[in-house]
Amino acid sequence: MKTLLYYFTGTGNTLKIAKDLAAQLGDTEIIPIAKVIDQPSITPSADRVGIVFPVYIWGPPLIVANFARKLQVPAATYVFGITNYGGFPAGTLLMLKDLLATNKIDLSAGFGIKMPGNYTPMYGAKSTAEQQKHFAREAAAIKEIAEIVKANKSVPISANNALVNSLFSSFIYKHGSLKIPEGDKAFWVDEKCNSCGVCEKVCPVKNIKMSDGKPVWLHHCEQCVGCLQWCPQEAIQAGKKTAVRKRYHHPDITEQDMISQQKN
Ligand SMILES: Cc1cc2nc3c(=O)[nH]c(=O)nc-3n(C[C@H](O)[C@H](O)[C@H](O)COP(=O)(O)O)c2cc1C
Ligand code: SF4
Ligand code: SF4
Repeated sequence: MKTLLYYFTGTGNTLKIAKDLAAQLGDTEIIPIAKVIDQPSITPSADRVGIVFPVYIWGPPLIVANFARKLQVPAATYVFGITNYGGFPAGTLLMLKDLLATNKIDLSAGFGIKMPGNYTPMYGAKSTAEQQKHFAREAAAIKEIAEIVKANKSVPISANNALVNSLFSSFIYKHGSLKIPEGDKAFWVDEKCNSCGVCEKVCPVKNIKMSDGKPVWLHHCEQCVGCLQWCPQEAIQAGKKTAVRKRYHHPDITEQDMISQQKN
């Protein structure tokens, strides 16, 4: 049975989840959402379609919401979602279910996995020991998820309670997500920048252009913090507090993996 896994990632957690699941399922293709998002509609043909993505402000990243709006699949396709988050998901997967329902797609299963948080504008990376605990739990979760997916089973969508979902996913996401594309106005580059150009290459949505050897942000940002986390010099800052905060990206995911995700 052929499975397609569509993903979006800023620091690799999501891609690691997609790779681990693909290894369990076999006959699986992993496709960056950024590579297909400019198509007028996305019409894959497979027995199963999975959508794998991080939680942003207790909802799906804008590019993932857009992907869900464009997705069209035959009625028999088993569609499932996996989200991952540093704190809690609230109603993120329920939002995905609603978005897909407008295209008459049923989200048959929705899974949440807690991973190391990556939002350096608010906190630094966890210790290596803490990260390892997350990774061990992720490996165990993927085995369980794979069994459900292999059986094309319908299971309840993972979410918090209705009050939390309504406050965080309806109210806060609704307002907060409006600011995401221009959230890059908080980014700036310090004197450590050596003009290597990595930030431009890892940005999934080509929101960075080099000018006189320094990155310039173009205000169609997804806030994935990939540029900030993958800069080898740790020269990209967001606001005033990030200079002293430890960076994070998943240790099994490479800069080349990130470059391969970039839209055409
Ligand atoms: C812009 C942004 C917003 C985020 N919002 C949330 C959130 O609302 N709740 C949460 O638990 N984690 C949040 N996170 C943390 C990520 O969901 C988490 O670290 C995820 O594993 C990152 O996946 P990635 O490595 O594939 O990019 C946020 C991260 C970013 C960059
Ligand atoms: S990745 Fe960092 S060092 Fe390289 S060009 Fe971008 S900001 Fe400068
Ligand atoms: S500019 Fe940085 S934060 Fe924005 S989408 Fe690109 S890599 Fe992600």
